[in-house]
Amino acid sequence: MTVTAVRTGPVRLHLSENAHGASPLALQAARDALDPASVYPDPARSAPVRAIAERLGVGEHQVAVANGSDELVLLSALALGDRDRPGVTTAGTFPGYRVCLEAVGRGCREIPLDGVQVDAEAVAAAMERAGIVYICHPHNPTGAVLDRDRMELLVERAAVTGTPLVVDEAYLEYAPAGTPRLGDYLGSGAPLLSLRTFSKAYGLAALRIGYAVGSPELVARLREVQGTMPFSANAVAQAAAVAALADRGHLDEVRRQNALQRAWFRGELERRGRQSLPSATNFVAVRVRDSASAERLLERDHGILVRDAGRFGCAGYLRVSLASAKDLVRLMDALDLIDPVG
Ligand SMILES: Cc1ncc(COP(=O)(O)O)c(C=O)c1O
Repeated sequence: MTVTAVRTGPVRLHLSENAHGASPLALQAARDALDPASVYPDPARSAPVRAIAERLGVGEHQVAVANGSDELVLLSALALGDRDRPGVTTAGTFPGYRVCLEAVGRGCREIPLDGVQVDAEAVAAAMERAGIVYICHPHNPTGAVLDRDRMELLVERAAVTGTPLVVDEAYLEYAPAGTPRLGDYLGSGAPLLSLRTFSKAYGLAALRIGYAVGSPELVARLREVQGTMPFSANAVAQAAAVAALADRGHLDEVRRQNALQRAWFRGELERRGRQSLPSATNFVAVRVRDSASAERLLERDHGILVRDAGRFGCAGYLRVSLASAKDLVRLMDALDLIDPVG
């Protein structure tokens, strides 16, 4: 497997895309599903629902498939929990939770991070008066994970308060074995929903397909509101997702190569005297003096796209997707010019 960076235009290190690309079997399934293009996709999304349920060892009634996890953030904000109470999320995170909560008129309270970590105690304390809670784990843009104690505290509070706990696990496939996952607690009876995607480790971002797995009541409610957009998961994406799940070898290789690249990149940064945060994902938060100007200058003068984590409330870091060594060296060389260390 080689890194298949898009070779035209700027170097894309800004959207946490998968530099290794999708399983060839998934791409073949996608091509096959194009014909007949005149037929609507299965509104029940039965094939991916069945494949996901089998893989995760849950009931099919615990899985909802959608047009990317973005859509599930919006649908959950629309439909789950007590709408008369504001939603809660953390500061310094993926902006989608706040954007969706505000768009549906619920309001959003942000709990500051504890350094680069989710402050699970503060979030747990806020749950009583929250309508719904969103946590990103592994965390975008810092790359940190919740440890088991913190995860259990949140799950326990969800059970006691009845407030739905939504954990966005978009990057979970990249995390080391043993990392806690919300799926470990689905038997607890707490109102839980894990959001997962085929956009990252499965490399299918262009096709738009993701899923939620969780408590039957929450999933049933999500499926009800999916009735407003019955065909939002298209046939090509549904077929590709099923084939991608079946290709275990490809996923294992993506994970293995990502972990190697992550260790190499952080080592190179350190060798150059530049700090970065430990990451369980396919991106690394790289310390710079002025992240807004570094993002701008990297694009303008070097043709390199990165994400200023200050846009997510983590100023002083650039979120850099793991890519080929060539592209990452190009980035580090450019950074040394724009934002010299020391
Ligand atoms: C934390 C997080 N959640 C959700 C998404 C959106 O994923 P999808 O492509 O499945 O809509 C992203 C995309 O970058 C993300 O970083």
